[in-house]
Amino acid sequence: MRRAVYPGSFDPVTNGHLDIITRGAALVDELVVAVVSNPAKKPLFTLDERKEILTKTVCGLPNVRVDAFSGLLVDFVRQRQATIILKGLRAVSDFEFEFQMALLNRNLAPEVDTIFLMTADQHAFLSSSSIKEIASLGGTVARMVPSYVELKLQEKFGPRAEPVGQKVERES
Ligand code: PNS
Repeated sequence: MRRAVYPGSFDPVTNGHLDIITRGAALVDELVVAVVSNPAKKPLFTLDERKEILTKTVCGLPNVRVDAFSGLLVDFVRQRQATIILKGLRAVSDFEFEFQMALLNRNLAPEVDTIFLMTADQHAFLSSSSIKEIASLGGTVARMVPSYVELKLQEKFGPRAEPVGQKVERES
């Protein structure tokens, strides 16, 4: 059984994450999407909310399950008897940090390999933090996140506000 762990904050899950999950799941027998418990980061969505949103989002993918972890990622990977850490890369700017993490993780757990999938180009600009900022300022995130996430963002921030600067001033 080839099992991979895809770790992240998923605060919230984006279409970019979903793309990596879908393509990653096709490469392994089981993919565990692992939501990190990171209260220090003050996430918008609680751990339970992030898990619930992810579970709904991946329900059409039979070999994907959602779990949570705290502490070292490699400890969780070993506990789940996985041998692969799956990561997504959006741009060269992600590379340096991810490269360092992959080397550190290999140092800690030499039997675990990190594999990277390049995000689809239409998602390359997406990040959870920019989505939260757009939603908090009343912008639309409809094509950036699954529709359930859009709903959950509306619950946090209220329905989408009238876009600023779109009113046409009439001359009197
Ligand atoms: O979605 P994010 O916030 O970029 O995910 C970061 C995550 C969860 C992958 C990273 O913070 C992590 O692996 N945390 C677990 C702690 C750990 O193992 N740290 C040592 C890695 S060298």
